[in-house]
Amino acid sequence: TVRNKNIKSLMGERLPRRVMSTLKEMGQVAGELGFKAYLVGGSVRDLFLRRENLDLDVVVEGDGIAFARRYGELHPEVKVRSHKKFNTANLTFAKSGLSLDVATARLEYYDSPAALPVVELSSLKLDLYRRDFTINTLAVQLNPPGFGQLLDFFDGLRDIKEKAVRVMHNLSFVEDPTRVFRAVRFEQRFGFRIGKLTEGLVKNAVKIDAFKRLSPRRLFGEFRQMLEEERAVACLQRLRDLKLLYVFNPDLKLETREEELLEDLEEALAWHRLSFLDQTVEQWLVYYLGLSDPLEPEGRQALGRRLGMSRKQRDEMENERERALKAMNLLQRKKPAASEIYFLLHAQRPEFQLYIMAKANRQWAKKAVSQYMLSLARVRPEMDGDDLKALGYTPGPLFKRILDRLTAARLDGEVLTRDQEERLVMKEFPKTADGA
Ligand code: CTP
Repeated sequence: TVRNKNIKSLMGERLPRRVMSTLKEMGQVAGELGFKAYLVGGSVRDLFLRRENLDLDVVVEGDGIAFARRYGELHPEVKVRSHKKFNTANLTFAKSGLSLDVATARLEYYDSPAALPVVELSSLKLDLYRRDFTINTLAVQLNPPGFGQLLDFFDGLRDIKEKAVRVMHNLSFVEDPTRVFRAVRFEQRFGFRIGKLTEGLVKNAVKIDAFKRLSPRRLFGEFRQMLEEERAVACLQRLRDLKLLYVFNPDLKLETREEELLEDLEEALAWHRLSFLDQTVEQWLVYYLGLSDPLEPEGRQALGRRLGMSRKQRDEMENERERALKAMNLLQRKKPAASEIYFLLHAQRPEFQLYIMAKANRQWAKKAVSQYMLSLARVRPEMDGDDLKALGYTPGPLFKRILDRLTAARLDGEVLTRDQEERLVMKEFPKTADGA
């Protein structure tokens, strides 16, 4: 049974005005072409969860590409890209950064799904039936006069209220094992719970190892999205409880010791986010370093392979990690001078710096990383290459040595002014007759 309910006012409250008028106009355009258009999926779900989501998905009963083209004709500022093969299109709105995907629901396009009991479905309903979870099957009519009419064929609204992640049918995870990871992501992101029956189906997927046919590419996609979640560590803990970590590597463990490192990484990431609002790091990479930290080198190679990393990428990752650990050990040996901190950290990517910060067990070493990121990283001498030329030095490898020396002197408070820099250069780098 379909519950009909108009959610125009909820949309009006939650969506920016320009998005509302875009959707209304889309309904009109669809109507004029003899199509029906619906807003579907995650953005509808998130209206009810009061979570901002401007990744809009529109399903058109009719011809999605023709619809998108027509809309694009009326709005030259909107970029339309069509994908003939899938009968889909993407609209990018230059000003607002809004992105909208259009899909086509056409009955004759579907092989009837294995688990589908009845065949008499509208094309929209069939499109929704093939989706992952009930909470993602809500649709809103865009055509006038019923703009804002909610179509809830599969009790999605009930499951949102019950905070339950439930699959549409028993073969869902067999058809697409990546959905298991999506279930965990949604559960942790929204504070939901995977339904009882659905959890049973997850266990079944583990039992029959449905994941073995997942390509490294797809697995990496899921892995990365999971580790980009705000509650990534909770996702990993849930994967462990569901006995799913083996999918990535059979030696992956998440016991107290391993959890501690991940939680320290979480803290380091939160610190970084608050301290550098305009700089982002690859969160997934930071957690990847933590998750793979306890593995033996061969285990890390195997994990990288399973995730589709090339030989070169794996080796580079391993080298970078070793460099970071070496720096960490030096930072931990005894309290380092500012210049030592600088030269140990400045060639490392921020993700590896955060790894050092989290993994170090001496407080001063953690502090050294934060000090580096907050201030030391930006310290430069006042003199530059041109100044050295003006002093009569000839450009070459010597320049880097002099400038590094000046940076160190600045960092350690050995020089405070430009004059002092100049004197230090003349004293420590006496010019030979040829200027070198
Ligand atoms: N979908 C699916 N099976 C998948 C991936 C996606 O059925 N393996 C469906 C879902 O119903 C989803 C829609 O395709 O609503 C769009 O997918 P995506 O954009 O990944 O979903 P969102 O719900 O927007 O999730 P996220 O916020 O993580 O992007």
